[in-house]
Amino acid sequence: MINIAIDGPSGAGKSTIGKMLAAKLGITYLDTGAMYRAVALYALRKGVAPTDEAAVVPLLDEIDISFSDGEDRKIFLNGEDVSSAIREHAISKAASDISKIPQVRLFLVKMQREIAAASDVVLDGRDITSYVLPDAEFKFFLTASVEERARRRFEELKQKGADIDYDTVLADIKDRDYNDSHRAFAPLTRTEDSVLIDSSDMTAEQVAEVIVGYVRERAKKDNQA
Ligand code: DC
Repeated sequence: MINIAIDGPSGAGKSTIGKMLAAKLGITYLDTGAMYRAVALYALRKGVAPTDEAAVVPLLDEIDISFSDGEDRKIFLNGEDVSSAIREHAISKAASDISKIPQVRLFLVKMQREIAAASDVVLDGRDITSYVLPDAEFKFFLTASVEERARRRFEELKQKGADIDYDTVLADIKDRDYNDSHRAFAPLTRTEDSVLIDSSDMTAEQVAEVIVGYVRERAKKDNQA
């Protein structure tokens, strides 16, 4: 089983790279951030604040998350395609807040481990290399300067027609960086055995090629052994 684990802060390009790798290597892509976003969306729709742990936890029994096969990997919340709804700006902070709740994490980590055990997969998130799959064969920490990450997110939101300015996006990313790396349970951290890739001055294609290089190198060694 090939498991490629990629962690890093918001806007580092993890999901773009994850999709590219899945296509290049013919394996599955699992966007674990989308799962936290789906839980946050459900809570908001129910009028529950993502910070209200006591109210969020019972909701988990009502949530079923699944993905479509194929390259676009749509995400379904209780059968509804929420792939676009979870990308709205308000959901980003809500997902970051809800991801602090240990029961939410355990609920989603269980699913993530099951998927990783059943198929060749590239997963991206915040705790994949440190907590979800600490023994993954390939571990990467993908980052970029906070200004570059904000610029990328801003361009993405602008293209979708969002009415937002760069400074707001930058402030939100800094806020999420802090939130995601300071929570008590499974915070974002770079493990010593993860390969650090700074994508500030790299294209997505270049980053994907670096990672594919590691995978092919390992396959060559395995064949020689
Ligand atoms: O990758 P993303 O921006 O879509 O993730 C949304 C939020 O979900 C992020 O701010 C933190 C949380 N998250 C997490 O805690 N652990 C993961 N493995 C993935 C995401």
